[in-house]
Amino acid sequence: MTIIRDEAIIPSQQLLPEQPLPAESYLVVEQSPPLAGEVELVGAKNAVLVIIASLILTDGTSILNNVPDSDDVHQMMALLMDLGAQVQFYPEKQQLIVNTSTINRYSVRAEIMRKIRASALVLGPLLARFTRAEIAMPGGDQIGARPIDIHLKNFVRMGATVHVEGDMVTAHAPSLAPRTLVLDYPSVGATENLMMAAAAIPGTTRIIHAALEPEVLDLITVLRQMGAQITIEPPMTLVIQGTTSLQPIEHTIMNDRLEAGSLLLAAAITGGQIDLPNADPSVLDVFLLKLEEMGHHVRMGMNQGKGISLVATPHPRAVSFITSPYPGFPTDLQAPMMAALCLAEGQSVIHETVYENRMLHVRELQKMGANIKVEGDKARILGVEALYGAQVIAGDIRGSCSLVLAGLAAHGKTIMTGVHHFKRGYQALDKKLAYLGAKIALKAA
Ligand code: UD1
Repeated sequence: MTIIRDEAIIPSQQLLPEQPLPAESYLVVEQSPPLAGEVELVGAKNAVLVIIASLILTDGTSILNNVPDSDDVHQMMALLMDLGAQVQFYPEKQQLIVNTSTINRYSVRAEIMRKIRASALVLGPLLARFTRAEIAMPGGDQIGARPIDIHLKNFVRMGATVHVEGDMVTAHAPSLAPRTLVLDYPSVGATENLMMAAAAIPGTTRIIHAALEPEVLDLITVLRQMGAQITIEPPMTLVIQGTTSLQPIEHTIMNDRLEAGSLLLAAAITGGQIDLPNADPSVLDVFLLKLEEMGHHVRMGMNQGKGISLVATPHPRAVSFITSPYPGFPTDLQAPMMAALCLAEGQSVIHETVYENRMLHVRELQKMGANIKVEGDKARILGVEALYGAQVIAGDIRGSCSLVLAGLAAHGKTIMTGVHHFKRGYQALDKKLAYLGAKIALKAA
C-alpha cells in the first residue's frame, strides 16, 4: 500500500510555564480572532468507511474519490488488507483503489477490529460473499454501550447462525434468504450492514424502520451502481432486489456534513464569517435552522443549490434541540453545538436521545467555566460571559471538536489531550482552522 501523509506540525507559542506538559500529543488552542475565509470540505468519514466495507461484495478493482485522510479510514484500509485485499491510497488525489479479487479470509483479527466500530460493517459483506464471518465486537468511541444486537438478530432472521462468545462473533449462513426485516430502532450501522447483505441475495428484502441518513443514501448510490435495485418507500422502508453478480465501481464520496457543521460553529463561536462553497445545505436542515435561531446570518445554495456561508452575530441567543435520527438534529453535532451555546445569551436545553452516554465533553467544558447541568439525558446550559483556557481531555471524536471550538473562544490557552480522537474523525481540521486564522497548534509528545 502506498501512503503519503502530511505530518507537518503548526508552530505555536510557548505554553504557559505553570502548566505541566502532557506526556502524549496534545493540541494547544488559544483565544483566536474572528475566523474568516473559504474552505473546501473533505469526503464524509461516515460514508467512506461503510463504502470501503461494501467493496467486499465485489470481485475486482474499485476506485473511490474524495476519500479523507483520517485515522479511521486508515484503520478500515488495514482491515481490508488483513482480509487479503490490495489497497493503494493516494492522499494527494484523495483517491483509494481497492482490488477485492484477492480477498481470501473471512475472519478479522481482533486487534484491528477493536479499533473502530465501523469495522462491524464487514459482517454483512463477508457473510454474503463467503457464507461465514468472524469478527470481534467492534471498538470506537466510549459513548454508551453501542451494541450490535439489531444487526445480529436480523442476520439470524435472514438465515444466519450467530454465536457470540466473549467479544467474538461468529456467523455462518450457507444461504442467506431475502426477508422482511423490522428494525427496533433506525440504526445507521444495522441498516447499512443488512442492506449490503441483501444487495448480494437474489430476491426482495424489505428493511422497515430503516435509517435514512445522507451517508446511508451514499451507500445506496454505490450498491445501485454495483447492480442492486434499491428503492425507498415512505416513510422509512428500503426495498432491495439483490443480485449475486455485484460489479466493482468508481464513486465519489459525498462531502462531510459534520465537518461543515464544525467549521460553521468555529466561525460562529469566534464572531467570524465563513464560506463553504461545496457544502450541501439540504443535509443539514435542522442544524442550520438552529444556527439561524441563535441569530447567525446563514446563506444557503449560492452555487446551484450547493454552498453555505455564515456571518456570526455578536450576540448569539440560546436555543434548544433534541438529537434524533435523520432528518433530526444530528447527534454528531450535539457536542460542537454545546460549545457555542455555552456563550449564548439565555438557557439552552439539549436532549440527547441517540446515545445514552454522550455528555463526556460536559465536565471538560465546565473546567473552562461553562455553566452546564446534566439531568439524565438532558443538558441545561446557561450562557456565560466568557470561557477560560484549561487542560482538558477529549473522550470521543465529536467531544474533541467541542473542546477545540470552546478553546478558540476562551481567554488564554486550552491544552487538549486525547488528540487521537480528533485525528480519527477529521482530516487536518486543525490546519483548516489555522488557515482561517485560529491559533491552534498540534504538539508531539
Ligand atoms: C453511525 C455513525 C456515528 C453516528 C451514528 C448515529 C458511522 C461510522 N458512525 O454510528 O457517527 O453518531 O451513526 O447517527 O457511520 N444501537 C443498538 N443496537 C444496535 C445498533 C445500534 O442499541 O444493534 C444503538 C446504539 O447503541 C446507539 C444508537 O442505537 O445508541 C445509534 O446507533 P447507530 O445508528 O447504529 O450508530 P452507528 O451506526 O454505530
